[in-house]
Amino acid sequence: MTEKMRLNKKRYLELINSITIKDADLKGLNNWLEKSDFFIAPATLRYHGSYPGGLCEHSLNVYDNLVKLASIFATRFEQQWDTDAQGNPIKETLRTVEVNQYSADTLKIVALMHDIGKTNIFTTYKRNVKNEETGKWEQKQEYKVKEASERFIYGNHEQNSEFIAHTFFPLSVEESSAILNHLGGMGADSAQMIAPIVYSKYSLALLLHMADLIACYIDEKVL
Ligand SMILES: [Fe+2]
Ligand SMILES: [Fe+2]
Repeated sequence: MTEKMRLNKKRYLELINSITIKDADLKGLNNWLEKSDFFIAPATLRYHGSYPGGLCEHSLNVYDNLVKLASIFATRFEQQWDTDAQGNPIKETLRTVEVNQYSADTLKIVALMHDIGKTNIFTTYKRNVKNEETGKWEQKQEYKVKEASERFIYGNHEQNSEFIAHTFFPLSVEESSAILNHLGGMGADSAQMIAPIVYSKYSLALLLHMADLIACYIDEKVL
């Protein structure tokens, strides 16, 4: 494990272990993660994060983007004031405060778990590649998806992520829907027809989708 991978693992676990929601099985998740390839797995075969540690790094990028997006698009302003002993507002203390629509726990759970279904699904193999400079054939290690019999199957990767997240966290409908629809209309196996309806109803799902796109196409740009 490289130093970068070690630091990403440390930050990921610190964020997970700072989740305070009641009935979260953090101990179970920590054990599951330690036994898995999550911290060394790639995020994709050929696109963004297609290198060891890419999956954890991508999850952190999505988290950072979601926190930024939520601070811009999911805040509202509320008027608050202190109250006296009888519970009456003290008008002189009236102030306007910015309130985030989503809790810190919600942002952590949906971002850090949105691609957890990609854990333990990739393996490596050797491929013969011609070296253009020397003209000789060389063996190159590449990733491929494991056979269906060797990996967890529930649905597509979004559905697998939601299922695994749900085993460790008591997800709300909005959190669950955000993970399920984080790919929007981008994938052939996505629920393309339902995504616009979900995004109209649940801003969290749209923000997670945008955070994922920004991570893939800006933070982890490959071209
Ligand atoms: Fe994904
Ligand atoms: Fe993703």
